[in-house]
Amino acid sequence: MLTHLIKKSVQEIKCPTLIVFSKASSQKEKLAEITHKELNKSLAEAIQDKHITGKHCEIILYREMNFQGYRHVIVIGLGKSSDINHEKIRQASASAYDAVKSLKSAEAAFHFDGITTSLKDSSSYIKAVTEGLHLASYSFEQFKSKKSDNKNEITFHICSQNAADKNVKKGFEEGVVLASCVNFSRNLGDTPGNLMTPEILAHNAVQAAKGTGVKVQVWNKARIKKEKMGGLLGVSMGSSEEPRFIIMEYKGAKATDKPLIYVGKGLTFDCGGISIKPSASMEDMKYDMCGGANVIGTILAIAKLKLKINVIGLIPSTENLAGPSATKPGDIHTARNGKTFEVNNTDAEGRLILADALSYASELKPQMILDAATLTGAMVMALGNTHTGYFTRHAELSKKVEKAAEVSGEWVWRMPLTDYHVQDMKGTFADLSNISSGKGAGSATAAAFLEQFVGEGIPWAHFDIAGTGWAVGNRLNYCSKKGASGAMIRTFVEFAKAASGTK
Ligand code: BES
Ligand code: MN
Ligand code: ZN
Repeated sequence: MLTHLIKKSVQEIKCPTLIVFSKASSQKEKLAEITHKELNKSLAEAIQDKHITGKHCEIILYREMNFQGYRHVIVIGLGKSSDINHEKIRQASASAYDAVKSLKSAEAAFHFDGITTSLKDSSSYIKAVTEGLHLASYSFEQFKSKKSDNKNEITFHICSQNAADKNVKKGFEEGVVLASCVNFSRNLGDTPGNLMTPEILAHNAVQAAKGTGVKVQVWNKARIKKEKMGGLLGVSMGSSEEPRFIIMEYKGAKATDKPLIYVGKGLTFDCGGISIKPSASMEDMKYDMCGGANVIGTILAIAKLKLKINVIGLIPSTENLAGPSATKPGDIHTARNGKTFEVNNTDAEGRLILADALSYASELKPQMILDAATLTGAMVMALGNTHTGYFTRHAELSKKVEKAAEVSGEWVWRMPLTDYHVQDMKGTFADLSNISSGKGAGSATAAAFLEQFVGEGIPWAHFDIAGTGWAVGNRLNYCSKKGASGAMIRTFVEFAKAASGTK
């Protein structure tokens, strides 16, 4: 799919399909309105009959309408004017994409100015439009012999009188970069475990970083051992695939500026190890590297947007299988920071690989650490697939997270993390146990375990994306039904943007 921003009115474009928008009225007795004057007149009857209501994401197709040189016209509902926000526009744009696709049209003119007539900031709205279109265009079909329709061949001409405006252009380009990085991470997530091993994940990070200014280092098993990463090594022992530790570095600010570090769980397949999982839905555990994939996407986006900030991405990556050398329940390993832990359940492996990554991150003297992980089933129980639960003890950091998520449109929810949760993670024979001695609060006790590896005084937040990492398409029309979502990439990039001061 291609999007072009052009300084033309839709009247000046020659292509088969026109996309316009309708707004619902706030007053009951009043009718909907189409954001294109002449069309509003032509379709007065349809509006009168309440065929067009302007309801958010309503899709009305007029095939062969032959209006002002356009063969087809698509009217997409924006909802009530007073309710319009970036997320509504993102979703309405995704609906526009779906409509053009279902028409099997190859080209469409997008009447952007109709959206923003009553809105001040065109730049952020055009960003939402390009995000919506590009995110909706994602599909994972490389393993189907028969591809569906004309999916990736659609061209959208986004028409705006403000197209030459510096900020509008910037908003447009930002939307394209962000969405393409999200789609890149989604593809890593959707690729099955046999084709997305730690080695392949690392290779993808190296390849994608070329030409972006991101420096990538990949540590192999021997190096991981040398670096005393007992958590990552311990989890990898049940598999014949070697683990990898991926380090991505982008310097957009002064060398002396402390980096913002992102850590992501890169578990390319989690069968649970010796504490093996039940078979039902085990195939979903190919998504257990989504935290890592999304950190890779975050670093790439920050570099491509040339944000004035230093960032580092750390992705510990391994399989968690039950081979002959696998870690056994009761085994004790030592993490990089010297703390020992009993592995009382080999399925609680994410925290073990993150332990080493967080220890290493802390040594790099960061200004902050954010991590993303498909860490606990308990998170899915608590928040389903609507919100990403996040944990931090740092009030200031929490405010920044909320602000970034507000801008990105991703939903986050702060969860508790207290000394009581830490208490539950004490070991019997080692410093720590990898599972809680108490009942419930499985996501909070996992966070408490992670906290033991974050250096004193470093602001840190942990994002458990177990519920939001994939299969959110029932809720968000710009995400695929079952596939990876790219959760938190947009929020993480927004966070970096705010931290860099280039707002
Ligand atoms: N990767 C899983 C968490 C998960 C489960 C994510 C389902 C998404 C959907 C993680 O490694 C895991 O297995 N966690 C265990 C921890 C438990 C043994 C303390 C869990 O949540 O059951
Ligand atoms: Mn597990
Ligand atoms: Zn896991």
